[in-house]
Amino acid sequence: MNTVDDRFFIDKSLADLLDFNPYYPLVHSGIAGEILIGREKYFDLASNDYLGLASRPELKEALIAGVKKYGASGCGTPIATGYSTLFYETEQKLSEFLQLQDSVLFPSCYQANVGLFPALARPGDLIIFDHYVHASLVQGIRSAGCRVKPFRHNDPEHLEKVLLRSDGFDRIFVVTESVFSTEGTVAPFEKIVKICRDFDALPVIDDSHGIGVMGHRGRGILEYCQIDEYDGLYTASLGKALANCGGVVAGPKQIIDYLRYSCGGLIYSTAVPPSILCGIGKVLDIISRDFSRLMKKMWSAKAQIEAACIKVGLDVSRGKAPIISIRCESPLETLRLTQKFYENHILTTPFIPPSVPPGSGVVRLIAGAKLKKSQIETILDVIGKLK
Ligand SMILES: Cc1ncc(COP(=O)(O)O)c(C=O)c1O
Repeated sequence: MNTVDDRFFIDKSLADLLDFNPYYPLVHSGIAGEILIGREKYFDLASNDYLGLASRPELKEALIAGVKKYGASGCGTPIATGYSTLFYETEQKLSEFLQLQDSVLFPSCYQANVGLFPALARPGDLIIFDHYVHASLVQGIRSAGCRVKPFRHNDPEHLEKVLLRSDGFDRIFVVTESVFSTEGTVAPFEKIVKICRDFDALPVIDDSHGIGVMGHRGRGILEYCQIDEYDGLYTASLGKALANCGGVVAGPKQIIDYLRYSCGGLIYSTAVPPSILCGIGKVLDIISRDFSRLMKKMWSAKAQIEAACIKVGLDVSRGKAPIISIRCESPLETLRLTQKFYENHILTTPFIPPSVPPGSGVVRLIAGAKLKKSQIETILDVIGKLK
């Protein structure tokens, strides 16, 4: 059998044209300070280490202590041997941090989002979603087996119109993200929650780029939007500002408990290992203690770098998240700009179709709290020379 045919062809013509492929850079170091690719040092404007916690000594020590005390793995799914007291306590700690009734921990947020909707929805239901939501939500929603309808990006009025045209469903779910990380936009979630209450729909928010980032204590979108007594569902990645890995789904106790027994991505997958559980607990402590200082550094880095980009005429989206999203006219321009940054030792993230609409592109810069003053100055210098 010929296993390699046209279906496995990836079009790398743009990378060939530029003699530059920004994807899968082989990183020879951690992400503290500068990143090593081969022998060259790069400033990290690409990782999601918003607060600069990934290489903190106290976090590393917590991870090591977890291994020493509990070993490498529970070698089982949470429904079996993976559900240690540590696992339970980490869930409780997350619930407390988020001010939600209960939480459940998945190996990743991708897995949580993919598993959530098939577990929640039934054939007579409807899922309405912001049409820019993350690929994991799209995949989960599409495999839910019920009707689905999109609403326009961050447009509560359009959501309302879609809801008005949606009679006769058993249950309606409304799905969005807090911070849309490609665009750098923030959802008007307080309005969306109100609309959901008016229409008796259940809101589901993915706060992967909001947890540890948004709100005056870093507790995410619910704090940022001042939503008390949230009665919907909440998901988030613990691999971005929280500098570990895993995904959390939180919300009303009854639904979370139902997921513990019905969600395939949880029941049939090895539990988050003890070291990471210790790491998550430690990061929640660090955020509770140090957020106001870290937040100031993060926002100041963003403001300076964003201003420099605007000054040289780059098309910056100016969102309210600590993300600098530069719109490009085409995928080729996107890779060209990424290459210019790269040649000047700055690592950024390019988004080209299918991650963004056909014909467009975005270069994303995340200026985390770990950037030193001197590094920011060098970055500003480089941007100043970009045309
Ligand atoms: C909005 C959003 N949701 C979910 C995920 C997946 O998270 P994880 O890396 O924990 O699987 C990501 C990561 O890219 C994301 O940006």
